[in-house]
Amino acid sequence: MSGSIYDDNLVRVFDTTLRDGEQSPGATLSSAEKLEIARQLARLGVDIIEAGFPAASPDDLAAVQRIAREVGTPDGPVIAGLARAVEGDIRTCWEGVKDAAKPRIHTFLGTSDIHLKYQTGLTRQQALEVIRKSVTLARELCEDVEFSPMDAGRTDPAFLVEVCALAVECGATTLNIPDTVGYVTPQEWGELIANLIAETPGAGRGSGVIWSVHCHNDLGLATANTLAGVMAGARQVEVTINGIGERAGNTSLEEVVMAIHTRPQFYDVRTNINTREIMKASRLVSNYTGMSVQPNKAIVGANAFAHEAGIHQDGVLKNSSTYEIMTPESVGLSQSRLVLGKHSGRHALKARLKELGYNIEGDALNQVFARFKDLADAKKTVTDADLEALIADEFHRPEEIFSLVDIQVTCGTMGMPTATAKLRNAEGEEFVYAAVGAGPVDACYKAIDAIIKAPNTLIEYSVHSVTEGIDALGEVTVRIAPPGEERRSFGGYGADSDIVVASVKAYMAALNRMIAVLGYGELKPEGEAATVAVTSASV
Ligand code: KIV
Ligand code: ZN
Repeated sequence: MSGSIYDDNLVRVFDTTLRDGEQSPGATLSSAEKLEIARQLARLGVDIIEAGFPAASPDDLAAVQRIAREVGTPDGPVIAGLARAVEGDIRTCWEGVKDAAKPRIHTFLGTSDIHLKYQTGLTRQQALEVIRKSVTLARELCEDVEFSPMDAGRTDPAFLVEVCALAVECGATTLNIPDTVGYVTPQEWGELIANLIAETPGAGRGSGVIWSVHCHNDLGLATANTLAGVMAGARQVEVTINGIGERAGNTSLEEVVMAIHTRPQFYDVRTNINTREIMKASRLVSNYTGMSVQPNKAIVGANAFAHEAGIHQDGVLKNSSTYEIMTPESVGLSQSRLVLGKHSGRHALKARLKELGYNIEGDALNQVFARFKDLADAKKTVTDADLEALIADEFHRPEEIFSLVDIQVTCGTMGMPTATAKLRNAEGEEFVYAAVGAGPVDACYKAIDAIIKAPNTLIEYSVHSVTEGIDALGEVTVRIAPPGEERRSFGGYGADSDIVVASVKAYMAALNRMIAVLGYGELKPEGEAATVAVTSASV
């Protein structure tokens, strides 16, 4: 059934969250955030991390180098970088990945007639020459070379065979077949991959070449297409956490992995993924990119394991297999009924966090403990979901150029929503401002804007409660963009039992990310000291 052309049945998981995923509108990540995500991907057990596109900018290069050095250890994943099929990109890519124990250069060229005609202006013959030169150079630099014929889904299949054969002849060790525009259907894709494997000289059984699939989700078929590729013999899947990526996104890692994991007899393949790390990876990526996960998203959505209908609840209570094809625990969702309360001490908290996979000690533990105590006072019982949100709020934050000192709001039917914000800059100076808004959150954001002066448009704001009940923690995700640059947006996350405070934290996180990338100079506060902060103009 598997159609395997390999002796082993291992499907290698190539995660491109930090490259294709970061190309999602608004998913800009700092170098430190990329490193932390890479560490989580390593814990998740991905085989290859595509750490970035080193030639894109000096910052991208530096981030890839850091990941190569710190995560690309001998027992860690392969660290890959992307390069266009041009000498400069390939050499820069090598600079990025060469310090990893297992480096890979991934180079690509559009091969469909549409891409040749409108993008590169190359003839097929010229394209073959470019591929020859670039793959040969990549292989001179690095033993592990991946080649992708971009827009393979719309490339003439006979030309694709020629391209793949040439890439292998020049030293490519992995042939990645991308459906760049999410155009193909599962049946077509399976047939294409099977034909390529059967017909490409030098790349069949025993050749050592790994066939890979890279699918986009424009028609919502990315997971189905990827699995069709696996059935046809692909032994590498290119995926992202939460399926983030260009336009409608890439294939989601968690969907492909859990399909393989849940239906082993059908797929007859395996992955190296530790599925219990999936939820943590999902949360981390969502918090850092500010891209919230839709509640009904398979595997990682808030409702993925929620049973609403009475008949379903009844069944699950009698035996979870009645309506659950996988357990929440298998993807790292705790179902623990053990709750902590205001009498729980530091040891109990530390032990519970450890069970949840967080080894937190020293100052960091003190910080979480203080937050935990406040929450336990307000809420009586603190669940695992609350703890996860607290951890995200405390630690999944960008470096703070401005930090929130205090926020105070008055609102209701009796007056105008008014907020007073006190912020601190990196030099320790404090600024206070008050503003009126359409509602309490708007008032807070206006007061903050008056201090920070980083013009932006709020393009997304969402709030949801971590657990049930009126005293639940609220989680807020926001995305902001510099005016007129909606594609270049920055996300932020905040959690608090007061949703206005959570909203402010999320906004501050997004602002700090934006300021870090756009530069600090122009955004410096104009020096309104606390004493002059509250002006008649602002209230
Ligand atoms: O979608 C695509 O074609 C890509 C390539 C660079 C592999 O991301
Ligand atoms: Zn892609």
